[in-house]
Amino acid sequence: MISIVITTCNCAIDQSPKAVRKWAKTLNPANQKLTKLHFFCHHLHGATATTIAKATSTDASPTFFGLLDTRDDPLTLGPEESSERLGYAQGISAAASLEEISSFDPFTFVFTSKEHNGSTLAALGSCPISRPSCEAAVVGGSGGFRLARGSVTSKSYYMNFTTGKAILEISVVALHY
Ligand SMILES: *[C@@H]1O[C@H](CO)[C@@H](O)[C@H](O)[C@H]1NC(C)=O
Ligand SMILES: *[C@@H]1O[C@H](CO)[C@@H](O)[C@H](O)[C@H]1NC(C)=O
Repeated sequence: MISIVITTCNCAIDQSPKAVRKWAKTLNPANQKLTKLHFFCHHLHGATATTIAKATSTDASPTFFGLLDTRDDPLTLGPEESSERLGYAQGISAAASLEEISSFDPFTFVFTSKEHNGSTLAALGSCPISRPSCEAAVVGGSGGFRLARGSVTSKSYYMNFTTGKAILEISVVALHY
């Protein structure tokens, strides 16, 4: 038997349908907010990320074309994994280029720290491994980041291909209501 327990979310912002309807009535373009965030993302292949699918041709591809991973990487305020936890980057990465190693990453930043607890930012982008940094688009958000749009830039802070560990330094600039 499956029982569904409905609990109220202890989110920083009320995200119930009724609360969102009420919020929409107060929308005014003059009230847009600009938020800048800076944090680190901890990626470890085999732990916070795993391969979920692969094409039969992937092994023969120099760019791993057709490889699909899913991830749930912790986000922290500082570069150490023990530093304050801000949330998670949850999403998928698809090796999506035939010409270079490049991932297509649709993902959500799920915030769990006090101020943004329960709010999310949705991002989309392509990230060629040859670039020193890459930029993705903020395409939306929820909770305190409703109607968000903006930019996410990331660059490598630490990378070890042998262990599959990577720490990315991430900056977000987003306009939202
Ligand atoms: C964030 O919300 C969750 C879910 O309601 C709650 O369990 C958690 O204690 C909250 N965290 C903070 C830091 O307020
Ligand atoms: C990567 O990790 C391996 C195994 O722990 C280690 O031997 C190697 O020195 C590391 N390389 C870099 C560049 O940190």
